Amino acid sequence: MDKEPAANNFIGNSIIIGSDHGGFELKEKIKAFLLSKGFTVEDAGPSGTESVSYVDYGKKVAGAVSRGQFSRGILLCGTGLGMSMVANRFPKVRAALCSDLFSARMSRLHNDANILVMGGRIIGDILAFELVKTWLETEFEGGRHQDRIQCIDL
Ligand code: RB5
Repeated sequence: MDKEPAANNFIGNSIIIGSDHGGFELKEKIKAFLLSKGFTVEDAGPSGTESVSYVDYGKKVAGAVSRGQFSRGILLCGTGLGMSMVANRFPKVRAALCSDLFSARMSRLHNDANILVMGGRIIGDILAFELVKTWLETEFEGGRHQDRIQCIDL
């Protein structure tokens, strides 16, 4: 990943990120990783390790992506399960819970995922950085996959 990423489909190279306490430490590390790569990061919180509900922070990030305020978001909780359940309730949000590089790549190629979800208690830092890098660098293929994702929202 270059220091200055291509703007392509990002709104101002901005990414919104949020977590609960289970994902807080990894959120902080991913934030630093993204900043070092030239992205602008909007941190939806929390700001510490106190116990909070993943629902509140998942709604903040998914709501912002759903409204079109951000093209991409990243969510973390302990497992990633709660965050992905919350995020995928929002129209136009396609949140992908990933813990392997193939899924991260395919979530972009075929599903045009706009939120990457990870479990802070599941994966290590280096794998998380690789997942983020792959997910941000992979473009949506479009074509037949465009037709399919258009049918997702009820
Ligand atoms: C918090 O203990 C935990 O439930 C949360 O981080 C997440 O894993 C929920 O899906």
